[in-house]
This record gives sequence, C-alpha cells and structure tokens, in this order.
Amino acid sequence: MSVTAAEIPDKSILQTIGDRRSIRYFDPDKKVEDWKLQTMLQAGRLASCQGNINATEAIVVQKETTDLWDEIEECVSGFNVQIINQCSHLIFWVTNLNAWYGRANDGLSTLALSGALTKYHGWNYEFTMTQTVPRLMSFPTERTEQLLRFETGMAVNQAMLAGVGLDVGSILIAFGRKPGGVEKAFGLPPHFRFTWGHAVGYPLEDEKAGGQRVRLKFEKLFHKDSYGNPYMPDAGVNDVLQSKGMIQEQAPIEGRFEEIQALADKFGREPGVVSWPEREVKRLIADDDWDFGPRIKARAEEVIATEELPDYPEEMRETFKKLMEEHGLDTKKYLS
Ligand SMILES: Cc1cc2nc3c(=O)[nH]c(=O)nc-3n(C[C@H](O)[C@H](O)[C@H](O)COP(=O)(O)O)c2cc1C
Repeated sequence: MSVTAAEIPDKSILQTIGDRRSIRYFDPDKKVEDWKLQTMLQAGRLASCQGNINATEAIVVQKETTDLWDEIEECVSGFNVQIINQCSHLIFWVTNLNAWYGRANDGLSTLALSGALTKYHGWNYEFTMTQTVPRLMSFPTERTEQLLRFETGMAVNQAMLAGVGLDVGSILIAFGRKPGGVEKAFGLPPHFRFTWGHAVGYPLEDEKAGGQRVRLKFEKLFHKDSYGNPYMPDAGVNDVLQSKGMIQEQAPIEGRFEEIQALADKFGREPGVVSWPEREVKRLIADDDWDFGPRIKARAEEVIATEELPDYPEEMRETFKKLMEEHGLDTKKYLS
C-alpha cells in the first residue's frame, strides 16, 4: 500500500472545479505517484457511459520506460513538445467503437442486474433485444464515434478533476502533427480511435497558473426556456461560488508575467507572451460577449501601451472572410 485514506485531502468538488487549470509548465524532476495515476484512471472508469458499455480506454506512458517515445514525440503538435518532455506521464485516451457493437447487450444486462434498469421506466427484455439493441447496433460507425467520443471526454474530465483533487496538474494536448501516428505507434486495431492526449504532472508554475481563464458571460452561453432568452446569473449565487472556491480570481493575477519570464529563463526558452495587433485587442476587449474583469482589461491597456505589437496579416483577410461566410458568420463583427 502506497497511501492511506487519511492522507488523501478532502477537497470539495466546487473547489476542485475552481482549482482546475490547464497546466503548461511541469516539474520535470517530480513523478506522479502510481496511486494518484490509478485514482485518476478510476475516476475515468467511473464516468457515466451509455448502456454501461465501457468504451473508454487509456494507455499510460512514461518517457523513461516506454520504447515508443520517439514515435510519440513525432506526432505531438509543435507547441506541445516542451509539455510532453517535462510532464510526468502521458495518458492517451482511446475510444473503442466496438464496445458499442459488442457490449450493448451485456452492458444493459449489467444495469438490469444492478437494479438500475427497471420496468418502471418501460424496460423489458423482449423490446430491448428486438428493438433497442439491434437499433443501436445498426448505427453507422460515424454516429457511434460521435457518441462514444463524447463519453470519452466525460471520462477524461473526471480523471483531470480527480488529479486536481490530489494536486496533480493536467492538460489536454493535440497530437496534430502526424494524423494517424498515435494509432500506428501503439498498433491500435482499426476500431479504436485515439481521442486525446493528456499530460499529467506536478505544476512548476504556481497552481493558480496565473488565475482562472476568462470565459464568455454566463448569460451568453445559457438560455432559459427557449433559445436566445438569456439565463441571467444571480449575483448572490456568484458570491457564494466565489466563497466556495469555484469562481476564482480572473487571470492574469499579480506576478504572472514575472513568473513565466522566470520559467523561460530557467529552461533557456524564449521569454514573453504572444501579442495580437492593437486594433484586435481593442475590438476584443470591447466585445460584450466576454466576461472581462478589471485585470484582463488593465493587461490589454498595458500591452497596447508598452509592447511591440504585430500588424494584422492583411493578406489573410479574404481567407478569414471566406471561411466565416461559409458558416454564416457576421464577418463585420470580426473583420471590421
Ligand atoms: C480538447 C482540448 C484540447 C486542448 N489542446 C491543447 C493543446 O494542444 N495545447 C495546449 O496548450 N492547450 C490545449 N488545451 C487547453 C486549452 O487551451 C485550455 O483549456 C484553455 O486555455 C482554457 O484554460 P483552462 O483549461 O486553464 O481553463 C486543450 C483543451 C481541450 C479541452
């Protein structure tokens, strides 16, 4: 036994959600304990899944012990290379499409045996076997893939939150450099989809990672009774969520830019953050959809006043216009 129950902190779920950040700087000298990895995987395993078919699997990889590191590194998107080399472990979350076709019957049977599927809701064996299961099994793989990848996302998020509860940092990372490369490296059978890569480790940056990242306003995302009718948040609820640690101070908090400067110096990497053109920053900060607090507004002003900002790539304007118009977007909002 590597841990006792008494050693595991009891962090509330609201605090855990509030504490989660995508961590991009990991301590290369600290390995995450096996029991913590197991706890994260257990959290993924316990995530809800349709018909209890258990389609989400994961391959946990450590750079020091795998034979596949070079192949893995070739696949990861360029902006994630530092991350994978400094994190403790990588988790490759994969989705088994055949769980849908092979395990629907047994999965539902486990739910019946567990006392979850009952006659109360209209379940009966004959209907299940002549209608429900054959209908599910007749789905084309594209539809099944969409459904099951959603479930994998749920499992991954539970694993990440379990990690946060144990002070383990996480970030999901794209492996876009070599499409199909991850499946090939692991020799995955064709009915498996590589859904996402997940780097795990102890944060080298402050656990607040510069503060909670801004989102769109609540009422711009959530609707009441009909689409387009804003669901207005209650200021009192927000205050309580703040006091429970779920809603936290918005990034960038004091000292964030000094922190990333120091991290760049420590590892001999290029310092600084990426900048957008002045007009673009001004347009964004004036956009009422975003929940911009005072810190990010002040940062925008500081950037405009002090940084050398790039020009908008005029040669790309037409491309962006065309891409947005293809989706019926109001280009005037973005391309004034
Ligand atoms: C599916 C998914 C893929 C992501 N891929 C990357 C990635 O490849 N590299 C990266 O630096 N961040 C990646 N992120 C992290 C997001 O950029 C991050 O969630 C966003 O910056 C918001 O910050 P927060 O997670 O700290 O709230 C990914 C996030 C998700 C959900």
